[in-house]
Amino acid sequence: MTQDVREDFADPALRTDPHPVYAQWRRETPVRRVKLPNGVTAWLVTRYEDARQALTDPRLSKALPVGQTTDSALPPAVGAAVSRHMLSADPPDHTRLRRLVSGAFTARRIEALRPRIEEITDELLAAMAGRERVDLIDAFAFPLPIQVICELLGVPAADRDSFRRWSNTIVAGAAARDRLPGAMQAMVSYIRELIAERRAQPGEDLLSGLIGVRDAGDRLSEDELSSMVFLLLIAGHETTVNLIGNGVHLLLHERTRWERLRADPALLPSAIEEFLRYEGPVETATFRVATRELELGGTTIRAGDPVLVVLLSADRDQQRFPAPDELRMDRAQNPHLAFGHGIHYCLGAPLARLEAQVAFGRLLARYPHMRLAVAPAELTWRPGVLMRGLLELPVVPGPA
Ligand code: HEM
Repeated sequence: MTQDVREDFADPALRTDPHPVYAQWRRETPVRRVKLPNGVTAWLVTRYEDARQALTDPRLSKALPVGQTTDSALPPAVGAAVSRHMLSADPPDHTRLRRLVSGAFTARRIEALRPRIEEITDELLAAMAGRERVDLIDAFAFPLPIQVICELLGVPAADRDSFRRWSNTIVAGAAARDRLPGAMQAMVSYIRELIAERRAQPGEDLLSGLIGVRDAGDRLSEDELSSMVFLLLIAGHETTVNLIGNGVHLLLHERTRWERLRADPALLPSAIEEFLRYEGPVETATFRVATRELELGGTTIRAGDPVLVVLLSADRDQQRFPAPDELRMDRAQNPHLAFGHGIHYCLGAPLARLEAQVAFGRLLARYPHMRLAVAPAELTWRPGVLMRGLLELPVVPGPA
């Protein structure tokens, strides 16, 4: 099947509510040729079954460069220092890079972080007490995962604001194109300094552990090490914030949900899975490139073509989920793709789930009367097609 290139995926109006548009595309052009905001032409995969196939198909590579990406504006040394990580590698490199950190991300290791996550959560919630109006993204959803990943990696508290600025710019991609090279450069310099410091004075943190592996003679190169730190920081920053923000928005938007979850905290785990499915934090998985011709949902993808899997759309596919547009906090079967699928399945999923459990549980208990401070139509969504999240979530906390 041949298809014209559509330009509507880049339309900023799509950010406000992409779901009806995706529903139409799943019906009419489930594998759709589009021009992205950065000018690259790619295939969008919008149905669940096609998405699963694309995420596991070894003919779709993560290691090939995608046309003229925004990264092409970077000096090569900076590009190399951020791009040699597991999410842009195929086996056997992927296997090796992932194995090095996966030991630190087992469910048991993560569970051991619970008391510290509870402490950070309680501190952030306490700081909202008595305030008339609070931006919940700024005061809670962002700082919680940032503090956790920074502590895990050993990034000093004083540097976290700079990190937040750089990583916001990086994830906005084409939407912040002019600031991107500067943010990348700053982040790379910072990571290199941090590595040098930890090398001189190792601690108990994950970064010191990774340096130990590198220096003990594994084939991990200096670029691979800085890229790994870069990936963990960005992935740890920019995703969980949207899980918390989108989830609180869904609960406050229809207050009966808030009351129900407050009355029955045992629902929390399945409610969190449903937030992930219904309004997932990551809108599209990262680029894949076809290494040879293949068939996807009846469409021929040619060698060299970039492919983007729209997780947000796949998770509303009525062929897979009964009543996909209903938020059912007790949904029993929920094989959503919010954390991806296959060999690149999110390494941080146990950490993200734990953070979300603590965050929602403590928030509901401490501020039972919280409500939205603006009409839902006034909320603004983050630019760019990679992440799905609110820029701000103004709330009235109410009495603690
Ligand atoms: C990969 C989602 C939190 C680390 C992924 C992928 C998705 C995802 C969709 C696969 C991307 C692809 O295949 O193109 C999420 C969501 C999160 C979250 C929705 C929060 C709710 C985290 C956290 C960390 C993390 C907290 C680390 C601290 C990673 C890493 C990969 C990854 C390292 C690459 C895995 C690989 O290539 O093998 N994540 N993530 N994520 N995520 Fe997450």
